[in-house]
Formats: sequence, structure tokens, C-alpha cells
Amino acid sequence: MKKFYLTTPIYYVNAAPHIGHAYTTVLADVLAAYYRQLYGKDNVYFLTGTDEHGAKVAESAAKQKLTAQAFTDQVSQQFKDAWQNLEIGYDDFIRTTDKRHQKIVQEILIKLKDKGVLYEADYEGLYCIGCEKFISESELIDGKCPDHNRIPEIVKEKNWFFNLQKFLPEIAKQIKADKLKIVPSTRKNEVLGLIKQGIPDFSISRSVKSVPWGIDLPWDKNQKAYVWVDALPNYITALDYPQGEKFKKFWPADVQFLGLEIIKFHALYWPAILLALGLPLPKMLAVHGFFTIDGKKMSKTLGNVIHPDELVKEYGAEATKYLLLSQFSFGHESDIKVSEFTVKYNADLVNGLGNLVNRVTNMVEQYLEGKLALTLKPAKWTVAANKDISNLQFREALLKIWEPIHKLNEQIDKTKPWELAKDPAQHSKLKKLLTEFSEELYSIAKSLQPFLPSISEKIIKILTAKKISKPKEPLFKRK
Ligand code: MSP
Repeated sequence: MKKFYLTTPIYYVNAAPHIGHAYTTVLADVLAAYYRQLYGKDNVYFLTGTDEHGAKVAESAAKQKLTAQAFTDQVSQQFKDAWQNLEIGYDDFIRTTDKRHQKIVQEILIKLKDKGVLYEADYEGLYCIGCEKFISESELIDGKCPDHNRIPEIVKEKNWFFNLQKFLPEIAKQIKADKLKIVPSTRKNEVLGLIKQGIPDFSISRSVKSVPWGIDLPWDKNQKAYVWVDALPNYITALDYPQGEKFKKFWPADVQFLGLEIIKFHALYWPAILLALGLPLPKMLAVHGFFTIDGKKMSKTLGNVIHPDELVKEYGAEATKYLLLSQFSFGHESDIKVSEFTVKYNADLVNGLGNLVNRVTNMVEQYLEGKLALTLKPAKWTVAANKDISNLQFREALLKIWEPIHKLNEQIDKTKPWELAKDPAQHSKLKKLLTEFSEELYSIAKSLQPFLPSISEKIIKILTAKKISKPKEPLFKRK
């Protein structure tokens, strides 16, 4: 039986959902929809969620004069609401404050200790709360963390460490052989480079004094689990590791999506934890670039943070997904041009797809009384578009689907079916032409299903009805 398990990172609750989070979530949503068609609904599992522990969250809660729990409840709900508005079809939403998660993380920690991969040692280092990680002197600019523009704290404490060295050779082997495939390949090379350079063991705990909000180390109440060691196992706790049916069915993950800034955690720490537990590694890590907004880093201070709700309100959920995936190719660092959204919406969706559906169905309705016998056989180009989707080349797939959209609109202009309709002698030619157009439109709608599920369903319903008629309302309203 074929199955497909895919995940997004679980998002920190110290900020409201923005289009960076939405982008990753939409990637997973489209891929999940694609595999549901292929393997059936029950054989696909799409997990997302929120990462709710750590010093940074405690700090944000305190700023708002809320308890950490009340604060995380609030922001986690904002993520759920945003995904609902964006019509994200996830199967599970895990929160690291869920009892089910906390319990299994503690069991995992005990297993790791029993297996002898943890050891206690003194640690002194510079800790950036913004990154939730220790950073080295060489990474600082003017004594500050360049990503968060804040002075890191000097932290000295006794911590538990994970013996990463023990697992690096095996991890490197699996990455090289593409057993743990990292795409794009530039990211694979980056990870192999990191391993070659030498990468220290990581601590799996923090003193309660520095991080009061987290999961207790089961054997030492003065220590909390390090936020990454708490967060990464979400990918298996959500499946009820170790005994759950879901775990047995879906692990290992088929694709884990992430942004490039968290590659070290996913490509080294996570595989090491899995190997220590005796579990298979995910089949693929799909790493995408960060994007900027009109050339600038997205930040609250600059006031250029875009929330997915704003886009959904303006364009609707499905068009928003289209606009996010069609602007740039997967894997690249790119710049989102806000003004492009409306231009692209009108050009591709209103004038392109919407107009085409209207024209074809209107002509079939008017000239043929809505009657056409279609074979509903997918066109040849759909194979290549589907292949792009399975290779995570979403933009390229969309470009392949838009080629026939443009071509058909041009062909209609050129062949002028309305002229043929005036001459009864041309009736069979007209019918042949409109049949061709409708067949092609059907292929377009089928290929668009993972991207624009309800729009394509509308088109398919029209084309497969006893009598074809044009849509009651335009599929997209001009902006
Ligand atoms: N909580 C950790 C992940 C733990 S996973 C076990 C975390 N959370 S986060 O809220 O910072 O989300 C990071 C992810 O959001 C990125 O990896 C990426 O998928 C997405 N993005 C956040 N900002 C983004 C951009 N500006 N551009 C593209 N994606 C972005 O890290």
C-alpha cells in the first residue's frame, strides 16, 4: 500500500502567522492534495502545528502580561484560524504544549539516556534568545546577533549533552546516498560541508532558571528539555510513537518541508535522535529559501509583515495559494513583489483561466445547446505537469498548466467560433473545435485540482454535466 506523510515545521508562537509560514504550509497543502488523489485520502497524512516552549515565548507572554499558557493558547489559535481561512487541509495540528506530546517527549528523553547517548557537562556560551540557540563569537556583528540585533546572554550551567559525534558518519552516509535526500542539492552539499567542518555535540537541556517554560527532564526537575529536542520529535509524537497505528503506517516521513535557516536541526540533530532511537530517517528534507518583501527583510519594525488573512480577504483562499506558489521556484531565495499580486491575479486568473472557462462554456451553451460528448482523457502535457508537482516544482507545474490556457484563448480568437456559428454548413467544424477546447479545459481543471480544488471542481462539474452551461458567477472577480 502506498502512503505519504508530510510535515511543515511547527511554528513559534512568538509571532502571528505571516506569509513566510503560509508559504511553507501551502507547499505542503498542495502536495498533500496531489497525493490524496493518487493514494486516497486515508493514505496521506499532513502534519503542521505550533512550537510553544522556550525562553522567547515566555518573554513574549510576559510582555503582554499573560501567563505563558494563555499566551500560547491565543497565538496557536491564530495559526489554526489562519490555516482555516486559507483552506489548508491538514490532518493533524500538534502543539508542543499538548499532553500527548509532552508525555512522549519525556519517554524519548528517558530512552536516549538509557541508550547512553546523553552525558552531563558544564556549558558556558553565548545564548541568543531570539534564535533559541547558542551562538559563537564569530557570528556576532558589533557584539550582537545579526538576525535579532540583540546582545546574546552569557549562560553558564550544567547541561545534558547529546553525543552527536557518534551518529555523524552514518548521517553523512545516508545523505550522500540520498537515502535521506536533501533538496535542492545545494542544501545537501551545505549539510555535508557542515559535517566535514566539524559540528559540536548539542545540549538537550537548559536550567529551569534560564528557561522556565518547557518540558521537565524526567530525571532532573532543575532542567527543562532544550526547545529543539522538545520540538523535533513532534513529527513522531503526532503519530503516537512508538505503538500507534499511525506511527506504524506513516513513519518514515516522505517529505519534511522547512526553511533553510533551520536546516542544521533537521538534517543533523533530528536524524541523530532518530538513529539513537533505532528509527528510520525521513526520506526527504525539502528546503526552501527565505523571501523578502519588495527587497526588504520582513520585520515588524519595518512594518512590511504580510499576514495571510489580508491576502485571503483580497483574493480568496485558492487564488492566494496560486499567487504564493507561482511567483518563484521552490528552493530559491526570492523577493515577493506586493504589487505583482494584483497584476498576476488579473492576468492569470481573471483574464486567463476565468475568461477561458467563460468563453468555452458559453459557446457550448449557446451554439450546441450545451451538448457535447467528451472523452475526458487527460492531455499529454498533464503527465509533465504532474511530474513537476511530485518533484516539488510547483511554479513550473503551474507554468505548464497556463501554457494551454494562453494557447486556447489565442486559438479562440483565431478560429472565431462565433463566425462559424452563423453558417449551418460549418456546424460539424464548430462542434469539433468546441469539443477540442472543452477536452483541453477538462485537462486543465484536472491538473489544477491540488492548487485550486473548489475552482477546478466547479469547472469539472460544468464540463461533466448533461448540459454544459457557463458559470453562474465569474470564477474570479476583477481587482
Ligand atoms: N519552531 C521552529 C521550527 C521547529 S520545527 C521542529 C521555527 N519556527 S518559525 O516560526 O520560526 O518558522 C520557521 C519556518 O517558517 C521556516 O523554516 C519557514 O518554513 C517559514 N518561514 C518563516 N519566515 C519565512 C520567510 N521570510 N520566507 C519563507 N519562509 C519563511 O523555526
